[in-house]
Amino acid sequence: MSEHYPFVNYPLPYSYNALEPYIDEKTMHLHHDRHLQTYVDNLNAILKANPQLQNMTLEQLILYAPTLPANIRTPLLNNAGGVYNHRFYFDNMTSPGIDRPLGIFAFYINQAFGSFQNFEDQMAAAALSVFGSGYAWLVADHDGTLKIITTSNQDTPLSMNLHPLLNLDVWEHAYYLKHYNNRPAYIHNWFHVVNWKTVSQNYLAFINGYT
Ligand SMILES: [Fe+2]
Repeated sequence: MSEHYPFVNYPLPYSYNALEPYIDEKTMHLHHDRHLQTYVDNLNAILKANPQLQNMTLEQLILYAPTLPANIRTPLLNNAGGVYNHRFYFDNMTSPGIDRPLGIFAFYINQAFGSFQNFEDQMAAAALSVFGSGYAWLVADHDGTLKIITTSNQDTPLSMNLHPLLNLDVWEHAYYLKHYNNRPAYIHNWFHVVNWKTVSQNYLAFINGYT
């Protein structure tokens, strides 16, 4: 993807109420229109002040940031990561319907975790283990091995040389309006709106060398 400065906040790939009753419309407005928009605006402000970075993609900015002075590096990582992680989160959800992987990807999940239930249990445990704000992720390492990891704040798996497949935002703003402080209930509901089709396509493209 060659998108670079100025970044835009793309519309959601579904309606704001598409994830009801599991994730509510009001939360989706707040999360996409306010929180993600703020990350986009802050990222553009940083890049406006640093023209040498304006031709870089989001992924390039995240990977290049550690080489920059701390006064640019930290806000750049926080805000480029905030845009990347939120796009990834929104793009890998969909209307409730198919709540587990199908076809060959179901085989890979079973192979890696023993069963889909084990995968859900491990993903939920990872999401619960995040202290404060962050994400749980399903990722693939360089040889395609599936793993569950967590990241803090707006860190990304890209910086760990891991290929992201699915992320679960456990910042309180992702669930507080509907679920209050009940993170386990939000996690339970989120499993109903995972877009296993996009996750599966992403993984198959990765292991076949297309991404
Ligand atoms: Fe978020």
